[in-house]
Amino acid sequence: MASMKVAVAAGKGGVGKTTVACGIASVLAAQGNPVLLVDLDPQSNAAWGLGADPTQPGTAELLLGDNPVPIQIAENLWVLPGGPGLKGHEVMRLDPEALADAIAAFDHAAVIFDCPPGWDHLERFGLVAAEVVLIVVDAHPFAIQGAARVVETLSARRQKKRQGAQRWALVMSRVDLRRALDKDLESALAAMFPDIDRLLIRQDVALSLATTERVPVVKAAPQNCRGIVDLQEVVGWLQNG
Ligand SMILES: Nc1ncnc2c1ncn2[C@@H]1O[C@H](COP(=O)(O)OP(=O)(O)OP(=O)(O)O)[C@@H](O)[C@H]1O
Ligand SMILES: [Mg+2]
Repeated sequence: MASMKVAVAAGKGGVGKTTVACGIASVLAAQGNPVLLVDLDPQSNAAWGLGADPTQPGTAELLLGDNPVPIQIAENLWVLPGGPGLKGHEVMRLDPEALADAIAAFDHAAVIFDCPPGWDHLERFGLVAAEVVLIVVDAHPFAIQGAARVVETLSARRQKKRQGAQRWALVMSRVDLRRALDKDLESALAAMFPDIDRLLIRQDVALSLATTERVPVVKAAPQNCRGIVDLQEVVGWLQNG
């Protein structure tokens, strides 16, 4: 059984979820931890961005009881692609615990779930299968509203003692402190969510280039670039609380 299960979610599209999911998977793998990235997105961006064939059997087949073979990307790094099968009625009818049950067979040191935008039942699979959630948020009010919805879902599940993540943090994404909205993000989140830790991923072209070039970021970018330094901080939070 995996020892670290992390969902990356937002309740909002385009805020940097896949960049964070692929980035922390790459950092953990480079540290020597076997990592499985489970792509929960019908767009299959994570699989594509890591260099895998996104049309191969993956998360949908796993949820429906098959045994898809994770695709190896690099040393210690595997991915199960998402894809349009995740939008099918059969997947939609599954219990929220279906993914938690299905991934129990994998013994990677870390399993990362990249949640999709706009498919609440797919996002829920990730929130229920994870022990920890990284809630990705940028400075736009719509993103803050999305993060609030995820926090509400997680808090309600924890209060009812339902299966699922017990711990979460906000990841401020694509932050550029030269922008007025970005400057205010930290204080806005501190006021809204005073008890939730805040982590930072700054805007860094090296992070977007890695997915464009379809290479794990640790292999693609200088080790001292902002993106990798910030991803390492996030991984440190995951490992040490
Ligand atoms: N820290 C960053 N620095 C620079 N560019 C970034 C950063 N994070 C994300 N991006 C860019 O922003 C865009 C959206 O990122 P990404 O695909 O990771 O978001 P997402 O939340 O997964 O989107 P979706 O909701 O469609 O799944 C991409 O072009 C990506 O390269
Ligand atoms: Mg994505």
